Amino acid sequence: MTDWLYSDIVKDHFTNPRNVLFEDEASFDADARGQTGNIKCGDQMLMLLQIKDDVIRDVRWKTYGCASAIASTSMLSEIIKGMNIQEAYSIKPEDLVEKLGGLPEYKIHCSVLGDKALRAAIDNYLEKTGRAGMLKEESTEICHCLGITDKDIESAFHNGARTWEALQQATKIGTVCGGCKSKALELLHEFAHIYGID
Ligand code: FES
Repeated sequence: MTDWLYSDIVKDHFTNPRNVLFEDEASFDADARGQTGNIKCGDQMLMLLQIKDDVIRDVRWKTYGCASAIASTSMLSEIIKGMNIQEAYSIKPEDLVEKLGGLPEYKIHCSVLGDKALRAAIDNYLEKTGRAGMLKEESTEICHCLGITDKDIESAFHNGARTWEALQQATKIGTVCGGCKSKALELLHEFAHIYGID
């Protein structure tokens, strides 16, 4: 048998995921709801939060994602309990990958599902409390099927993605209808120009 690719922490969170929503949504009295991903490519994530005085008190989540998405969202759900929404909003997939003791390179894009759903839920909460868009970074959605923005592409670029294939590996962009390809390639080109990298 080949070596197991995942760390013990990933295995633990995958086989025993924390804060999963097993019942239907109504069983968890959520103050906020965030959903991301696209069921057509098998990745979908729902996150529900209970929030009091801008502090996340409890969380439930559910996904049709893979082992890496499950482990990273389980870890995320542990970290954010007791955290202020502002701090939670700024958690990056890299933080989760580090806490999980690493993920195989080609699985890193799976870890973005949880934090995207978390930000969607916090945005939902801010909207409900009359502060719509307060924490939102200015970004433009490039891939409408998967909700991937120019910021996501920029961050993939900074992590070494220089080609369409590398960008797809990092973000899964273009894996549903493919209609975003030319715009995404234009952006990669633009970032190479801005940052002076070929
Ligand atoms: S817009 Fe459909 S895959 Fe990107």
